Amino acid sequence: MPRRVRDYSMHTIGDIVCAAESPETPLLVLETAGTTLRVAAFCGAAAEGALPFGPEDIEAPEALAAGTPQLPEAVDTWSISRLAAVRAQAWGCAQGCARLGGSAMDRVLRRMGRQTSRAHYAAVHAPRPFEPGVSAVPVSGKCWGAEEMENLTEASLDFWLTAGRFCEAFEKRFAAILGRKHALAVNSGSSANLLAMSALASPLLKERQMRPGDEVITVAAGFPTTVAPIVQMGFVPVFVDVTAPTYNAVAEQVAEAVSPKTKAIFMAHTLGNPFDLAAVKAVAERHGLWLVEDSCDALGSTYAINGGSRMCGAFGDLATFSFYPAHHITMGEGGAVVCDNPLLRKIVLSLRDWGRDCWCPPGKDDTCSHRYEWKFPLLPAGYDHKYVYSHLGYNLKISDMQAAVGLAQLDRLEGFTARRRKNFSLLQKALGPLDGKKILLPQATPNSAPSWFGYLLTLAPGISRQPLLEFLNSRHIGTRLLFAGNMTKQPCFENVRYRAPFGLDGTDAIMERTFWVGLYPGLSEDQIAYTAESISGWLAAC
Ligand SMILES: Cc1ncc(COP(=O)(O)O)c(C=O)c1O
Repeated sequence: MPRRVRDYSMHTIGDIVCAAESPETPLLVLETAGTTLRVAAFCGAAAEGALPFGPEDIEAPEALAAGTPQLPEAVDTWSISRLAAVRAQAWGCAQGCARLGGSAMDRVLRRMGRQTSRAHYAAVHAPRPFEPGVSAVPVSGKCWGAEEMENLTEASLDFWLTAGRFCEAFEKRFAAILGRKHALAVNSGSSANLLAMSALASPLLKERQMRPGDEVITVAAGFPTTVAPIVQMGFVPVFVDVTAPTYNAVAEQVAEAVSPKTKAIFMAHTLGNPFDLAAVKAVAERHGLWLVEDSCDALGSTYAINGGSRMCGAFGDLATFSFYPAHHITMGEGGAVVCDNPLLRKIVLSLRDWGRDCWCPPGKDDTCSHRYEWKFPLLPAGYDHKYVYSHLGYNLKISDMQAAVGLAQLDRLEGFTARRRKNFSLLQKALGPLDGKKILLPQATPNSAPSWFGYLLTLAPGISRQPLLEFLNSRHIGTRLLFAGNMTKQPCFENVRYRAPFGLDGTDAIMERTFWVGLYPGLSEDQIAYTAESISGWLAAC
């Protein structure tokens, strides 16, 4: 414990103080509080290259007040090196002090912050062993480690707060992983979907601009915010049916649903299982339609056309992602829109950032070098480009803290994907003997390798779903339905105009008899086995 010092007032954060009795053990003042000095010892023997500062970061002692305070007996165990001692002694201040410069202090304190975050993760957040019947088996959850917390600490110490260096790094890396030219981070998957639909209504698209009344082919079995922005933009959703066990659109119906008013296809890869991209892309190309992939549940899933395998999100004119904690990677709240076309990128960026024409990132001005030279018909000559609006936009940006967490998560993506696939095959193997009897097991779309979001199951007609879900709940095993089930039956859809040219029987069957259980990377083999045993045990008795 630090104890009182005689004259604490002469020292301040960053001072390196040497005791007369042990000048080889200088102490770095990290905090002056009340009548105590909190200090860190420099007594470690870390290699110089690993230090958060070098000799040049230690300021000359003349700048400091003379005098040697009585030092605490015990100090924090955190140690950096003897470097400061050597430097202080070189200045002949065996009994005096030196001081770390501001940027070196920043590095020292950041290192401490990272160490504290790492220790906090290990002490508080590290996964606990599974106890069947006691521990929960959630359907989804965030999986993270000390690196995410370290990045979060770094970003909070930057205190940039809005989108900054971490966001830029995230966007670059995310685009590269997907093999796309552009990625724009946004504050949710729903925002990404809203931006994608709004972008297609941009006047900058000229003859391809979508207008109210234009039709968008989609499905009703899925998440509501895939469909909501279609309606919000005044477009008309045209629902094709879906079938188990792939839970995606019937491809032939997609082709047949096209009318003279159809301008886009916008569908999700259901729970990570890619829709028939070859067929759907061919329809879009044949009719000159926009193709937008809602890949919010499918990060890491791949699909092969003519043998060339790419990630979901790499096929559409636009694709969207969610980084909500339930998803394949997380940043808390977050999402992204990706594309290759620079005009689409420009439009999405504008809509995301208040609708402005200017593309300067937060905190930067005059990136175009012509800030006061742009000309717009009704604006005064030289009107500041920063305040020129080419769209009626939103503000859907993320903070750098979110991006920092997301960046660390990207390092785990490959491992997460492998784990999801492994958990899927464990469930397939354990439940395999039941397939097609009382229950239908999920199937990957041909030519795809899904990174499943969840494990979808459909009960045979006549077996009631609710008692099974209640039984699983009593065993602390989480379950979910396929989100809205049949969107057209939700209360919010009462007065919404839509078409469903082929009926929605498959969708209704899914709404009645389908559910899913977890397989996310946070679940151990024991948890997966417990889930499978519980389902098969209940089915055997029903
Ligand atoms: C297919 C699909 N699209 C969009 C979203 C919305 O993402 P967010 O929750 O980040 O808004 C979800 C959410 O789970 C989803 O499953």
